[in-house]
Amino acid sequence: MQAYTARAHTNIALLKYWGKANEQLIIPTTSSISLTLDEFYTDTTVVFDQHLNEDAVFLNDAPLTGKGYKKITDFLDIVRQLAGISTKAHVQSTNHVPTAAGLASSASAFSALAGAASKAAGLDLSLADLSRLARRGSGSASRSIYGGFVEWERGTDDTTSVAHPLQEVVDWDIQLLTVIINDQPKKVDSRGGMQHALQTSPFYQNWVDATNAATVDMKTAIENHDFQKIGSLAEQNALQMHATNMTATPPFTYLTDNSWAVIQLAAQLRSKGIEVYATMDAGPNVKLISHISDYHEIVLALQSVLPDVETVAATPGPGLVVVAGDEI
Ligand code: DP6
Repeated sequence: MQAYTARAHTNIALLKYWGKANEQLIIPTTSSISLTLDEFYTDTTVVFDQHLNEDAVFLNDAPLTGKGYKKITDFLDIVRQLAGISTKAHVQSTNHVPTAAGLASSASAFSALAGAASKAAGLDLSLADLSRLARRGSGSASRSIYGGFVEWERGTDDTTSVAHPLQEVVDWDIQLLTVIINDQPKKVDSRGGMQHALQTSPFYQNWVDATNAATVDMKTAIENHDFQKIGSLAEQNALQMHATNMTATPPFTYLTDNSWAVIQLAAQLRSKGIEVYATMDAGPNVKLISHISDYHEIVLALQSVLPDVETVAATPGPGLVVVAGDEI
């Protein structure tokens, strides 16, 4: 059978997905809004091969085993079921996401896998169907099907819980600067973290209500290229999400002293007229939403607080691309 290769870029949530209404289908409790990034992506090649007795999965040239392997084979089972085949697959995936940057690689990984595996299985899915499929692997992957600003509508079932683009081509000045914080706290993955917050934080429903309200305002802000509004809504939503973790039983947090130092620096820079806002996901790294033109000033300010700090800059990126063959 024909091999197909897909490239999908990762995305950063400006309004977060943090909790599932349906764990099996990955239906979230709120809609979320993201920006797809140009710098970080996954390339994945899939071929279904009659000679295989089981799926063979390679990540960055090493065979994948354990929990990671199981997630991929479960996902391939969904694709096989849709295509009406039982053939096993060979999957080769390369992540171009600096591991230390802590940017969710599951978003680009399952988006690329949805694109390559569905084509290789003989399916010809629409972008909306690819988004639904990618969602089954990892919720945030539903958004990486599209470029630019994307909304994943919460929906209520497999059909209605799907992403759509809000602004595919972002031709105005916005960048995302990932500040790599090296003091790693105890690891709680996003899947476990969000479930724990949903089940035990008394503030969880407040977070849902606040995110619903912010969704309307964020869409207007994106339409108007209103940088300040986008940044302030994103920072507020991220802090609210992290508040659900800090108020869970038992409480936990992804943020370290250095994360807070960067969040505070963003506030100080704003008081000096530099527009910069912080957002954080399931790890200690802080992502700064800023203007490209302020890059040097922000890096200098960061170095004065955290002398050895590393940063990775990214701008808006494109949606999923799938080609026949094993080269992209
Ligand atoms: C904090 O999409 O990784 O990055 O659906 O369980 O695989 P699963 O979770 P995942 O969660 C991402 C959480 C987040 C916020 C976001 O990207 O919206």
